[in-house]
Amino acid sequence: MRLKTLCFIAMVSSLSANTFNPEMSNYITKLKGEAKKADSSFVDFDASKGETIFTTKHKGSKGEMVSCTSCHNSDLKTTGKNVFTNKLIDPLSPKANPQRLTKVKDVEKWLRRNFNDVYTREGTAKEKGDVLYYINSK
Ligand code: HEC
Repeated sequence: MRLKTLCFIAMVSSLSANTFNPEMSNYITKLKGEAKKADSSFVDFDASKGETIFTTKHKGSKGEMVSCTSCHNSDLKTTGKNVFTNKLIDPLSPKANPQRLTKVKDVEKWLRRNFNDVYTREGTAKEKGDVLYYINSK
C-alpha cells in the first residue's frame, strides 16, 4: 500500500474516533485514572457496555422500572420526555445536539442525578466512562 493511502486511512479513522473537546477529554482522562485505580486490569471504556447501562431497566428511585431510555429514548437523536414530569428533553446525541457532552459541570451533575434516578446510586468511574463513550457514538 502506498504511504499516501495509509495516511488517508489513519486520518479517516482518527476522525471517526471519539472527539471530545479538551475539557471533556480531561474529564475522561480523570475517569480513566479512577477506573484504573479500582481495577488494575482496566484499559479503556467500552461503548457496548455503555449501551447495556443505558438501555437496561432497573427499579429506580421512584420505585418504577426505568432505564436511561425512559427519558432519553432508544434513538438518542430524538427529543426525549421526562417520564416523571412530562417535560421535553433535547436530544442527547452530540450529532443531533452539538451542546451535548461539552460541559463537564453539566455532565457530572446529570450523570449523578440520572444514575440515582435509575440505579439508586452514583455510577462508578467505569460506568460513567462506558456510558459517555456510548452517548458520544450515537
Ligand atoms: C427521569 C428522566 C431521566 C432519566 C431516567 C435519565 N435522564 Fe439524563 N437527563 C434528564 C434531564 C431532565 C436532563 C437535563 C436536561 C437537559 O440537559 O436537556 C438530563 C441530562 C443528561 C445528560 C447531560 C448531557 C449534557 O451534556 O448536557 C447526560 C449525560 C445524561 N442525562 C445521561 C443519562 C444517563 C446515562 C441516564 C441513565 C443512567 C439518564 N440520563 C437517565 C432526564 C433523565
